[in-house]
Amino acid sequence: MPAISCSAPGKVILCGEHAVVYGAPAIALPVFQVSTTVKITAKPLAPSSSNTIKAPSISLDGSLDSLEPDNPLRAAINLVMRELKIDHIPACEISIHTTMPVSAGLGSSASVTVALVRAISTYLGHPFDNDRVNHIAFEIEKLHHGSPSGIDNTVITYGAPVFFQRGKPIEFIKIFHPLTLIIADTGIKGSTASAVAQVRQRWEIDRDGYEAIFREIGQLTLQIRRDLETGLLDEIGPLLTRNHELLQRIGVSNLALDQLVNAAMQAGALGAKLSGGGLGGNIIVLANPEQAQQIAQRLLISGATRTIITLIPSTDGAC
Ligand code: MEV
Repeated sequence: MPAISCSAPGKVILCGEHAVVYGAPAIALPVFQVSTTVKITAKPLAPSSSNTIKAPSISLDGSLDSLEPDNPLRAAINLVMRELKIDHIPACEISIHTTMPVSAGLGSSASVTVALVRAISTYLGHPFDNDRVNHIAFEIEKLHHGSPSGIDNTVITYGAPVFFQRGKPIEFIKIFHPLTLIIADTGIKGSTASAVAQVRQRWEIDRDGYEAIFREIGQLTLQIRRDLETGLLDEIGPLLTRNHELLQRIGVSNLALDQLVNAAMQAGALGAKLSGGGLGGNIIVLANPEQAQQIAQRLLISGATRTIITLIPSTDGAC
């Protein structure tokens, strides 16, 4: 049997992170320059108890059975088996390769789960459709992040721009004009679980203040959606920067993120903000395409450890 190989992209949150946990809408975009690939190679002559799993990015190389049941990789595989009512996996080697740094706001945990669920379900002869993959990926995100909104697993599973609001059907949004984004890494790890927990503690103390901020973030997300759909890219920049200010107010930015946002704005960006959980990780910068290289260069000089320039195509495919 040839090896099975399945992949999933990364993501950025364009706007609305954190507020989305409290019911406000948010917009997320897939990023295909970073990805996870899971390869499964059958070992037809080996007993099924000899399944192995390798994930160099987290220094994992051992037997599948040695993982605790609440390990997210093991739990994802168990959920696939439970759905298929299968109690063992024919002997294989599972190899997980991701080009995404962990705790950088690019959705590495959801990307690994989505690629893994696709690969295992395919190996077991029943490739899951996106809805099933997304359902399992959300359950696993809870193990990683406590109380996730579900936006990360959704954008990564469907690989398309999403307008996401908790408890509402997923909406795929139309993008009228391609968008040039620069993603710049502070090189500082920022735990989403801890950022979400810290915001919750502060929200408990000042519910009115935080809810006013979440409402404003929700309104600017609605405006950004309209601008994406009508192609008013120049209008989006200041809204992204305003979103960053509101994220500062809820305490999830830090000096490194603020310095990169300021450097991008001084270099001529249309708008810039942290993206994802914050406390480190990446910023995103909206730029005119002809200025993107120069802004990325300035970000590297200002301390970014890596930049990615990504083009979000219009949804009718024009670039
Ligand atoms: C993380 O990418 C986005 C957060 O809003 C958490 C979540 O929505 O689960 C910070």
